[in-house]
Amino acid sequence: MRPLSRRTSELGTENAFVVLGEVNALVAEGKDVLSFCIGQPDFVTPDNIRDAAIKSIQDGKTGYTPSPGIPELREAVAQELGRLRGIELAAKDVVVAAGAKPFIAYTIQTVTDYGEGHEVIFPNPGFPIYESQIRCNGAVPVPLYLKEARSFAFDPEDLESKITDKTRLLILNTPQNPTGGILTREDLAAIAAILRRHPQVWVYADEIYSRLVHDGAFASIVNEEGMLERTVIADGVSKTWAMTGWRIGYAVNETLAPHFTRWVTNTESCAGHPNQYAALEAITGPQDAPNEMARVFHERRDLIVGLLNEIPGFTCLSPGGAFYVWPNVSEACKMIGCADSEELRKRILHEAGVAVLADIHFGPRVPGEGQHIRLSYAASNDDIVRGVERIRDFIVKNKK
Ligand SMILES: Cc1ncc(COP(=O)(O)O)c(C=O)c1O
Repeated sequence: MRPLSRRTSELGTENAFVVLGEVNALVAEGKDVLSFCIGQPDFVTPDNIRDAAIKSIQDGKTGYTPSPGIPELREAVAQELGRLRGIELAAKDVVVAAGAKPFIAYTIQTVTDYGEGHEVIFPNPGFPIYESQIRCNGAVPVPLYLKEARSFAFDPEDLESKITDKTRLLILNTPQNPTGGILTREDLAAIAAILRRHPQVWVYADEIYSRLVHDGAFASIVNEEGMLERTVIADGVSKTWAMTGWRIGYAVNETLAPHFTRWVTNTESCAGHPNQYAALEAITGPQDAPNEMARVFHERRDLIVGLLNEIPGFTCLSPGGAFYVWPNVSEACKMIGCADSEELRKRILHEAGVAVLADIHFGPRVPGEGQHIRLSYAASNDDIVRGVERIRDFIVKNKK
């Protein structure tokens, strides 16, 4: 056998895509499955954005662009991200890439060295690509546990206890995937106070769901004193404008932007040229469609939380943002004799025809926090009602 690298063996994956394969196979066999697996809006990209992309192609915008992106888009991103956070950002500090996802790897590669024991603190449960990229880049993953009792924020004291001289990066994600939890202004102030005592730590603020906050206003770590310089703000068009397939994301940081640009030159060359014009229209064009999508997600959040709490053995907090719910199913597992949430997930898929993800798809289960599943409510009201009803009927039928 010809050997493969350690880096490759450490590379993880996003289990949503694996489960989606399982779901698609069942659907191909003719099974009726309602899916709440995938984290993408169930809307088509608004017309004005699609038209802008078509026009850009007709205008011949089909070549390479500068690696950090077309100047108009970098300027629009600086304005938009600055507006939402109430700060000034400069276009020169913005880099555009094929989604927000690549910046997770670019940041880890830029601030840690392979095999040096450099530690990266990241939320658990969390977006699985964080741990995958930390490991494959030879850094040390340090999970920071999210607590149900704190509405899925972490305890700042836990953060302080995890920072060492080897810590190079703290990953924050608000609103959060998979719990839908948000970090409040008070949480962020407490985090910033700790970080001020540890000047060697960079921050990766994954704010891809920043325009999907259901309760109150969005709060960012960059609003805390001294945090902007050390923070990579990562965002993109995928979730806000229903543009997951266009692959446009961006990151902002004055010091790291030139390095991100070199990473883009070394990997993607540049993000898709017409797609950048689509993103420009998304950000600078009329905002009725994204505002309406956010309103619909808010309404669905209330619908699904109410319905899930009616299922025996389920308790579901009302999440502050994104389009995910993270019900606690510990009691339901006991009631029907499932060893854990993963067994419950499989039974719900095969016996009730509903696809969800289990907590273990987002990192090891948090000690003492019980069993959870994730449902993405990027689905119609009708599917939400039918899907949750199927789960409830399944639990009631199998209750011992
Ligand atoms: C927390 C988080 N960060 C980043 C991404 C990636 O977004 P993009 O489509 O911009 O690469 C996702 C997508 O699911 C996400 O949930």
